[in-house]
Amino acid sequence: MKKILGISLMLMMVFALLTGCATAPAPAAPAATEAPAATEAPTATEQMPAERTVIKFAAQADSTPATQAVVDAYNASQELYTVEWIDMTNDSGAMREQILTSMQAGSSDYDVLSMDVVWAGEFAAAGYIAPIDQLMQADGLKISQFNAGSMTAGNYSAKQYTLPFFPDLGLLYFRKDIVSTEDAAKLVSGDYTYADLQAMAEKYMGQGGTTDGIVFQAKLYEGLVCNLTEYTAGWTDVEGGLVALKAMVDSPASPVDILNYSEGETHNSFIKGASVFARNWPYQWGMIASDGTISQDVVDVAPLPGGSTVGGWLLGINKNSVNQEGAWDFMKFVATQGQKIMSVQGGYLPGYNEMLTDADVIAANAMLSMPGFQNALASTISRPVSAHYSETSDAIMNAAHAYLSGEMELTAAVDAITAALAN
Ligand code: GLC
Repeated sequence: MKKILGISLMLMMVFALLTGCATAPAPAAPAATEAPAATEAPTATEQMPAERTVIKFAAQADSTPATQAVVDAYNASQELYTVEWIDMTNDSGAMREQILTSMQAGSSDYDVLSMDVVWAGEFAAAGYIAPIDQLMQADGLKISQFNAGSMTAGNYSAKQYTLPFFPDLGLLYFRKDIVSTEDAAKLVSGDYTYADLQAMAEKYMGQGGTTDGIVFQAKLYEGLVCNLTEYTAGWTDVEGGLVALKAMVDSPASPVDILNYSEGETHNSFIKGASVFARNWPYQWGMIASDGTISQDVVDVAPLPGGSTVGGWLLGINKNSVNQEGAWDFMKFVATQGQKIMSVQGGYLPGYNEMLTDADVIAANAMLSMPGFQNALASTISRPVSAHYSETSDAIMNAAHAYLSGEMELTAAVDAITAALAN
């Protein structure tokens, strides 16, 4: 108990550091739904359960059991609504296109949307999602109760449009049963370079049954932009970042088809014990427990050399939904009580601050208290901030991928990326 309290305090301090706010956890959110009080004795027909309204939740495929578990828990918690999860691709760019097509047509097909932090602002600006300030106020919810970075990503023109589904940050996972204690300490401190990491990946590859030194996301998609954000130390050194990333791609320590690796290929390799190092998001921690052939006991996490990219997904209500109340009720549940399920069952970082100090969350998700995780939280960086983010991101990934695959010269790639960043 003492230990849990100690860890709770430590996590609160880390969180205060991250967000620059030192407030104590706010009181729990009110219960998700309360059935209207009956004023008269119910007749036989009134006693029959009313037909539930279906709420459609458009959310990306989840490699962990968490999304299904949170939907099931909500459906079991009340009698007014049944949430149906429309399981979409978890390629962020492709999912954006899919939802955009539906929104542009003014469709009410989806009631609640899951949106990547990099495009939620665009959806708010275009008027596709409904502001939630009044709903939050009516339910006694405050912006400060949620992950600060996630809330900012869904705030447009001084209005709040979103609540966090889950915040994300890039992490280096490594096999502490293979890496020396000295190297492990260096990694956890964050005081190492990509050249150091490459040398370690080459050195340890093949040990402990591994076939690869390191896996990461270098496919032509949004994940490559996240990885390059880290290699360029938050876009402060575009040329150096590209060169270091190409060296890693060309190294025998990474798989020959690394240019086709997204998060899925990455976690498949790491959780099955095939790689010593993997760059991935917090959900991979949960996957080691749910689907891994290695155990969490042989894994540690570290910050990335140039900082850890902030990512994450947000929940918002389709402005054209005909079920605004039910959409809000579900979204509020997922973003408050549901955060415990997301963290315990999926290894996600809670977006509802009070869950950071929840004993069940801390007990089930040991990663949150690990020094390497805390160091990563303290060194987060962001993708380019742009009013036309998807164009910027497309230009960056196209130039970077062409350079990494040997189809573009370094100077041309640097110029293209620099121009995209200035746009
Ligand atoms: C994760 C992040 C998201 C990012 C994506 C890239 O889902 O949460 O922000 O865009 O990975 O693949």
